[in-house]
Amino acid sequence: MQPESRRFEEDLLTNPPRDFTPDLRRLKSWPSMKDSPWRQPYLARLTFGEVHNLVDEYIFGQRLRILDVGCGRGWLSLELAREGHDVIGIDYSKEMIQNAKRTMDTDPYKDERGKLEFQISDFSQWNHPSESFDLVIFSRSLHHIPQPSKAVRKAYDLLKKDEQIICIEYAYDRLDKKTAAWIYSVRRSLQQSGWYKSRKKLPENMDQSVREIMKEYNAPSRKEHYNRFEEMRKPLNTLFREVHFSWEPYIYWDLIKDMRVPSEDVEMATARSIMAMETALIETDSINPVLFCFVGLKQAIKS
Ligand SMILES: C[S@@+](CC[C@H](N)C(=O)[O-])C[C@H]1O[C@@H](n2cnc3c(N)ncnc32)[C@H](O)[C@@H]1O
Repeated sequence: MQPESRRFEEDLLTNPPRDFTPDLRRLKSWPSMKDSPWRQPYLARLTFGEVHNLVDEYIFGQRLRILDVGCGRGWLSLELAREGHDVIGIDYSKEMIQNAKRTMDTDPYKDERGKLEFQISDFSQWNHPSESFDLVIFSRSLHHIPQPSKAVRKAYDLLKKDEQIICIEYAYDRLDKKTAAWIYSVRRSLQQSGWYKSRKKLPENMDQSVREIMKEYNAPSRKEHYNRFEEMRKPLNTLFREVHFSWEPYIYWDLIKDMRVPSEDVEMATARSIMAMETALIETDSINPVLFCFVGLKQAIKS
């Protein structure tokens, strides 16, 4: 697959420098990481930092046993361990886990952390005693895992009685025409300012562009068999009592990833305003959001 056709998969696109440490407390500029929000501290805060804030809003209790499924480069597991929780992060990508371990080993706050462990494993095959966790997190990973109802059931079994799941997930099939039209308008204005990576130029004709954008987002997601919104939402609602559900801005991740603004101050302001615009459009129901946050508590299965 052409790298440019992958949306939101910044971690898979980049070829990070050998000493890359994806760490929200040690942010710095990584100019070679052109396709990732990690390339600038203000972009990392606006993306990964916002996911961390969202997760933190729904963590109650101290020294929890947490499982971070599909933890990627481990930045969220690391933050949660620094908050005093005992965390296991698993991911089937060797490269991601190697990066997570390197970041963990060089963490200047390691003496104050809870326990932190990273394992290379496919969640579907992962063996662990049931009822061992207080919290299971899927942060942008459940949409990748085949048979999401089995994955959610596995998370359910791994949780202790009454305990919690947080699921922050990409729902690609929610992207509709009006949302694609908004993406078009932002991309077009960035392109006209010379601030957009020289991806294939969008056609002048808006309808044609909107069709192309929808294809760009949908085709790879279908090819990779990403799970659809209802495929994830249904098992969550069956097994867990919903305590929170929200739609969150996410398309801005993709837009700012491809932005190329010469001045850092202007880039930061532009990124913030794209995010604010997406948030406002979601709140007014003017576009279809594509990232949801579900928080639920394990409930007894009705027979
Ligand atoms: C978009 S990344 C998200 C990473 C991280 N959770 C975050 O929010 O930045 C999705 C991650 O899920 C991992 N993943 C996908 N399917 C998996 C599976 N079956 N078992 C374990 N990890 C998986 C991928 O390797 C990738 O690192």
